Amino acid sequence: MATTTQDASSGNRFDDMAESWDDRPDVRETTHHAYEAILKSGYPFDPNATSVMEFGCGTGMLSMKLAPHIKSVLGVDASEGMIKVFSRKIANLPTTAPELVSKFPYKPQSIFLERPGQLAGLGGTDGSGLFDIIVTHLAYHHIEDLQSMTDLLVQYLRPHGRLLISDFEQTFTSKYFHPSSHWHDVEHHGIDKNALHTILTRAGLFNVSVETAFTLQKPTESGDLSFPFLLAQGQLG
Ligand SMILES: C[S@@+](CC[C@H](N)C(=O)[O-])C[C@H]1O[C@@H](n2cnc3c(N)ncnc32)[C@H](O)[C@@H]1O
Repeated sequence: MATTTQDASSGNRFDDMAESWDDRPDVRETTHHAYEAILKSGYPFDPNATSVMEFGCGTGMLSMKLAPHIKSVLGVDASEGMIKVFSRKIANLPTTAPELVSKFPYKPQSIFLERPGQLAGLGGTDGSGLFDIIVTHLAYHHIEDLQSMTDLLVQYLRPHGRLLISDFEQTFTSKYFHPSSHWHDVEHHGIDKNALHTILTRAGLFNVSVETAFTLQKPTESGDLSFPFLLAQGQLG
């Protein structure tokens, strides 16, 4: 079973951050860079065909950016507060971006993803619960068992589907990505590049690559620091 830092049944610490999440400059900046890196990943995005699941979607910032390039996206996040904000954005699309309304045929789901089959009928190609691509940004460092979570996500891919993981890299200073008051809530102070490559390979993916995609400059308790971000990808055979 894949595990994270909290159990959905006991509430989610991200609920309290949801309403102001999009105001954070670091979140906005990294989401934009992750979006650009995903578009450049080589996947043949098709606005008429590609089905996407965003794991740990938060308020849907990345899904909204990807929407023009894909057919449909299902956001999944354990935080009800995050999903509430995302759902509000979708409800406002007829006014803010009517051309994107059709990209969200399924409501984003407040689900603690921990086993296969939880998304059956809720998204993917023809509601299959299986996706052409799974993307995730800034969620993996909150997952305790990265191999189990990767094994699980792979089970939500269609044949030849692609898993794309974006998160900050483990370095000598990466624990300062979060303030020390939050260190107890973080499973990994960054993701180890080589370990992630091994995890994707062990999950049965092919053409695995883990690249430094971009760098975030951010003020921290230890001064202004630079945080490299990884984009990992692998394809199901
Ligand atoms: C740091 S936030 C990132 C949110 C969003 N991806 C962004 O970059 O703005 C991590 C998110 O992962 C979600 N998450 C962690 N483990 C999860 C699980 N097993 N199932 C669903 N969501 C999970 C949390 O609820 C949280 O909203």
